[in-house]
Amino acid sequence: MLDTPACALLADAQEGLNRPQKTLSPKWFYDARGSALFEQITRLPEYYPTRTEAAILRTDALRLAGLVPPGGALVELGSGASVKTRTLLDAGGHFGAYVPIDISEEFLLETAAHLRARYPYLPVHPVVGDFTQAVILPEAIVDQPKVGFFPGSTIGNLDPGEAVALLARARVWPGITRFVLGADLVKEQGDLIAAYDDAAGVTAAFNRNVLHRLNREVGADFDVPVFRHEARWCEDPARIEMHLVATRAQVVHLAGQDIHFAEGESIHTESCRKYTRRTLATLAAQAGWRLEDMLTDPRDRFAVAILTV
Ligand SMILES: C[S@@+](CC[C@H](N)C(=O)[O-])C[C@H]1O[C@@H](n2cnc3c(N)ncnc32)[C@H](O)[C@@H]1O
Repeated sequence: MLDTPACALLADAQEGLNRPQKTLSPKWFYDARGSALFEQITRLPEYYPTRTEAAILRTDALRLAGLVPPGGALVELGSGASVKTRTLLDAGGHFGAYVPIDISEEFLLETAAHLRARYPYLPVHPVVGDFTQAVILPEAIVDQPKVGFFPGSTIGNLDPGEAVALLARARVWPGITRFVLGADLVKEQGDLIAAYDDAAGVTAAFNRNVLHRLNREVGADFDVPVFRHEARWCEDPARIEMHLVATRAQVVHLAGQDIHFAEGESIHTESCRKYTRRTLATLAAQAGWRLEDMLTDPRDRFAVAILTV
């Protein structure tokens, strides 16, 4: 008998692996091992997004922390290890609560425990949830003013329609006043490919983790080393795509079904959309937000957009 997340994983895999271009959603990268691998990625020399966004947040920490009204809640989507959040909490905001929302349950609950130890005065209400669907906010913060926070360029993993829908749902959270959104900007192709195909092979292990999950959690029999990690640049819309490419033909068994792979056939596992100032402003407007400001680094590699209702 599969538990609920495993049922959802199986249903998604059955649907995605039967498409002409086989696909798996990037949300399935993140079990405890996937979340730990992502943290390793953030420290890789090639992976500029984390360092660049963290520097922008540090530079403007007082202003960003000040966006949360005294006693208000900071609600973070895809919070991971909440490392960037600490920059805002340490900037001395008088936060009434912190609500980290993430699909990776074990990692989320561990992170919440660390945060409670570090900020004993701060109510932390973790929510295990999928932000591609409506997320139910904790009762405790419903009446509080709140600011949304979505760093990590995770918005880039959503297709354009999903990204608009997510921002539009957040726009009507009761008491929401602002939304702080981190997005990666278009840049030199070589830098982009290197960031998603590091020399140490950590991103490759992160990508393959989804196949290990399918084997372990829903009884598939992927021969994982047969799948090669590949990062591809695609122009329109501007994005990096991550694929797992079968280096030889194989048949994978998934819940009684045969999934055939030809040699060279790939599973598309993630898109990482890269924005320009213009496309980011358009995205915000389509979801009903007003762009109050866009903070960038000196080389315009990454943007932190401040959206207001
Ligand atoms: C790219 S990481 C960013 C982590 C962190 N915010 C940062 O800036 O370093 C994406 C995070 O979003 C979470 N995530 C991915 N898809 C999700 C979904 N559909 N719903 C909720 N969380 C999701 C992952 O577990 C992971 O923690």
